[in-house]
Amino acid sequence: MATIDFSQNRHTLLQNMVMDSVAIIPAASLKVRNRDAEFPFRQDSDFFYLSGFTEDGAVLVLRKTAEKSETLLFCQSKDKEMEIWTGFRLGPDAAVDALQIQGAFSIQEIDQKLPTLLADIQCVYALWGNDKEWDQKFIQAIERIKLKVRTGITAPTSMLALEPLLHEQRLIKSSAEISLMSQAAKTSAQAHIKAMELVKPGMFEYMLEGEIRHHCAMQGFRFDAYSSIVGSGENACILHYTHNDAQIKDGDLILIDAGCEVNHYASDITRTFPANGKFSPQQKALYQIVLDAQYAAIEQIKPGNHFNDPHEAALKVITQGLVELGLLTGEVDELIEKEAYKPFYMHKTGHWLGLDVHDVGAYKIKGEWRVFEAGMVLTAEPGIYVAVDEESVDKKWRGIGIRIEDDVLVTNTGHEVLSKDVPKSIDAIEALMSA
Ligand code: GLY
Ligand code: MN
Ligand code: MN
Repeated sequence: MATIDFSQNRHTLLQNMVMDSVAIIPAASLKVRNRDAEFPFRQDSDFFYLSGFTEDGAVLVLRKTAEKSETLLFCQSKDKEMEIWTGFRLGPDAAVDALQIQGAFSIQEIDQKLPTLLADIQCVYALWGNDKEWDQKFIQAIERIKLKVRTGITAPTSMLALEPLLHEQRLIKSSAEISLMSQAAKTSAQAHIKAMELVKPGMFEYMLEGEIRHHCAMQGFRFDAYSSIVGSGENACILHYTHNDAQIKDGDLILIDAGCEVNHYASDITRTFPANGKFSPQQKALYQIVLDAQYAAIEQIKPGNHFNDPHEAALKVITQGLVELGLLTGEVDELIEKEAYKPFYMHKTGHWLGLDVHDVGAYKIKGEWRVFEAGMVLTAEPGIYVAVDEESVDKKWRGIGIRIEDDVLVTNTGHEVLSKDVPKSIDAIEALMSA
């Protein structure tokens, strides 16, 4: 597995921070599920990007002065008794070498040490507003310095959002990050193929969800990047459907939107296929429009084009297709202008992808759609959803939901589809399912 250079990530951030500043990034905290049971722990993506450290109960501090730039960690102390219950802790002593940082302390010391670390610092960068408890702690530390100004120390004078620096950095992926994302996409692609091979009318949606998780776990990747969507029949029209508990019927289309994480990096793939292995004429007609829209969108992903170009291309193909099939009537340009496609296509054609499935990074710069650069990764995911109660169209179209989603890397010369291993043409899907 590719190794992320976390030191380099910190180095770049420190370079971009203003002089005499501190950046504070807390780890994620454990969330209670019910009584003594907790949700599986997932490290905060910003914290992980800068440390690679996967424990809870920790805070990272990056400090830049004219004298030196340094990274300090507050983490849980070693505790033999607690480690019997909750597992190994790295502890501050071992953390310095393991994470290649300049100092580490027990998390118990943070209230006492934070004012010292912020003394004579001008600017505090944090993810303000993310976690009110931490905001409060940082502000209290600043207040404690203010009480001591008569001793000659100065308190920070500005509080800046860390997002513009850190999230712009995260938007452009390194070769190691691309390699992990490619591995995630390849693994998830194989899982989607498994689902197509295994499905039979009469199965329940959660069985396919289970197959996908099983396949990824058997490759060593236990965590989903998000809750899997397995929607059969009209459930495919529910954009964030996660009940996954319906029985699959003969004649249904099944929409699966699922992807695993590889070392915290996400994949996000959707395929839609017929439960019985054969698309009906209506399913085929709508599917081909979505597929053509996706090809048109992917074609637009290249350096120099802007983020909304794929969406605009997809809208043209979808609106044109819906007119040809009689689901919309009028001039294509006018229908797009009036957003007449919205009852059938109500989401955007993609989003950034990275450590988070809906990854960080601005979509617009000074009000203008941002221009693609090599190293960005995004999804291309057009769809058509005809609700069961959509009375404006003939009954034969109702209850059909289709989305096709791939993960696309912007390269120097164009793009690379990281999730290309899973088939998406009608012929290729029907051939795979009949094999
Ligand atoms: N799986 C979430 C999305 O496609 O955006
Ligand atoms: Mn997506
Ligand atoms: Mn998705």
